[in-house]
Amino acid sequence: MTITIAIAGKGGTGKTTVAAFLIQLLADRGTVLAVDADPSSNLNLALGLPLEETVGGIREGMAEEVSSGRFPVGIPKQDYLDLRINEALVESAWVDLLAMGRPEGPGCYCAANSMLRAILDRLIGSYDYVVIDNEAGMEHLSRRTTRDVDILIAVSDPTMRGITTVARIRDLAAELHTKIGRTALVINRVNESWPEPVMKAVEELGVELIGLIPEDRRIGEYDATGRPLIELPTDSPARLAVHDVARRLGLI
Ligand SMILES: Nc1ncnc2c1ncn2[C@@H]1O[C@H](COP(=O)(O)OP(=O)(O)OP(=O)(O)O)[C@@H](O)[C@H]1O
Ligand SMILES: [Mg+2]
Repeated sequence: MTITIAIAGKGGTGKTTVAAFLIQLLADRGTVLAVDADPSSNLNLALGLPLEETVGGIREGMAEEVSSGRFPVGIPKQDYLDLRINEALVESAWVDLLAMGRPEGPGCYCAANSMLRAILDRLIGSYDYVVIDNEAGMEHLSRRTTRDVDILIAVSDPTMRGITTVARIRDLAAELHTKIGRTALVINRVNESWPEPVMKAVEELGVELIGLIPEDRRIGEYDATGRPLIELPTDSPARLAVHDVARRLGLI
């Protein structure tokens, strides 16, 4: 059975950082598909992997070929998409990565979308773990580009704006047809003390607080120089805090 974990939250709160550490941790326990659902994909950098093509790019390319009459005759579209998605899948020795790219635009190519969904569902089902690094807006989740989620990790910084976004995500999750098993809150970049109103807002949120991740200046240094986060030393406080989160979620 595949365990699907989605990570969501306000922009810049640490979703990709949490995703990268979690992916690395789970890769020691089973096969992992990392899904970058942020149109300005950068999970690959955190993981130290190359990236050339996205699912959105394939969808748009195919829609253009069909509408301009350049799509090759005699090739079933489903087979074509299947092949292209497999080409877009970045396979490495320890993890595979698929970037979603842009969600469907106004000129919805709906047939391609339902085919893509079937292909992605099958692909996802062949891994032990799927970790989805969402963009701030959760477009892919709300458009059901990705399927049901076992654990939704909402990441916030210790600010009212971050927590307000989590409240919005909580409401969206409740409205979605996407089934979400468990929602947990992680607060990132926490120093010794955090503002009283934020603490109160967290208490009132009704989302289980599963972990606090400390400020870790080496994360910024690695990001600034383009060094993969997964190369951070094993005693990195942020990495250790993500391990604690995984433990509390029963993942390890
Ligand atoms: N615990 C931390 N300590 C120090 N810096 C951090 C920490 N977590 C994240 N950062 C820094 O904050 C910035 C945003 O982190 P990250 O890219 O993980 O967030 P994000 O939520 O994925 O952002 P986006 O919405 O742009 O995708 C990065 O520059 C990263 O280096
Ligand atoms: Mg990110």
